[in-house]
Amino acid sequence: MKIKFDLNGENMVVNTNPAIKLSTFLKDNKIITVKRGCDHHTCSSCTVLIDDEPVLSCLTSLAQCDNSKITTLEEFVQTKDFSDIKKGFDQAKVKMCGFCNAGKIFTAYKIIKTINRPTKDEIRSQVSFFTCTCTDTDALVDGIYLAAAARRSRLEKKRNEK
Ligand code: FES
Ligand code: FES
Repeated sequence: MKIKFDLNGENMVVNTNPAIKLSTFLKDNKIITVKRGCDHHTCSSCTVLIDDEPVLSCLTSLAQCDNSKITTLEEFVQTKDFSDIKKGFDQAKVKMCGFCNAGKIFTAYKIIKTINRPTKDEIRSQVSFFTCTCTDTDALVDGIYLAAAARRSRLEKKRNEK
């Protein structure tokens, strides 16, 4: 089956088995920020954005990617949204060893883009399933809370410049 998608800004057409997992395809195509820790919905280390929504690539077939836009951390780290998240994570001392970065960063992105001023309880309810062995949940909640503040301040500054 022929499948078309945009991967990090590059148009791709692949003629392949549509049942292949997106995580497998990405690993085979030199995407190193997508990890395969569990392969069954537990670690989030395989998270990517599909059409700007976080998705577990270990649970996604290539057929489900047809005509979509896939973004991995390789591309996302160049965005202002990532800068906001990095600022918040640094302030809260959220560690990023590399293993679960994609899960943490894309979950943070979803929260701060959908809730302008999230409370710590709202954030906690969305990250409590995380099993990062480097950072505890309290630090992650603080990091996302501070990332949301950084985003608000950036957007407000931009509005004032107009
Ligand atoms: S590899 Fe663990 S959730 Fe996908
Ligand atoms: S940052 Fe190391 S396992 Fe999460």
